[in-house]
Amino acid sequence: MKDVFEAIRSRSSTRGYTDEKLTAEELEAILRAGLEAPTAANRQEIRFTVLSKDSPALKLVREAFEEELEKTPENSFYYGAPTVVILSAPAAFAWSPVDAGIAVQNMALAAEGLGLGSLIIGCIRRCMEGKRAEELAKALRFEDGFVYQVAIAVGHKATEKAPHTYRRDDQVTIL
Ligand SMILES: Cc1cc2nc3c(=O)[nH]c(=O)nc-3n(C[C@H](O)[C@H](O)[C@H](O)COP(=O)(O)O)c2cc1C
Repeated sequence: MKDVFEAIRSRSSTRGYTDEKLTAEELEAILRAGLEAPTAANRQEIRFTVLSKDSPALKLVREAFEEELEKTPENSFYYGAPTVVILSAPAAFAWSPVDAGIAVQNMALAAEGLGLGSLIIGCIRRCMEGKRAEELAKALRFEDGFVYQVAIAVGHKATEKAPHTYRRDDQVTIL
């Protein structure tokens, strides 16, 4: 298991997965990482909908995605990952997007720590908010007033990608 700095440094987006499923323990560790993320005022408003690759609800999201958006070259947004977790939260709570972002990164780091790959998914937003929004929210069992925030694909890596580089001098101001 990687320590936190190692996991932060080595994590990168995985856009190709093997068919191997997550074990129950792996899934639980990743969900716990999301649940253990802080939320504004400790509101704990984030909900986690877990979908396996062959679940009817994921198929529905995929159909809606393909209707709304240009297909990616791989014709997918989760790149064959065995598990996708969709995070929803109240539309009316101002901190929902921040809290969801913190939770999803905790989950990505937990996956990395376990030697798994992950991909944070934003590109389904348009279909989640599009003309099939109500149908998708129902299929994903979103609570009333809850909306899609972000999602994460998790699985065993079939591809490797180096972590991104960054522009420290442009991005950091120390006063
Ligand atoms: C909020 C958010 C949404 C993202 N949505 C997508 C997405 O829909 N599809 C995708 O392939 N990558 C997505 N990414 C991954 C970014 O493209 C990726 O993190 C970035 O290029 C840096 O690469 P790295 O993760 O390998 O370090 C998303 C990342 C974040 C933080």
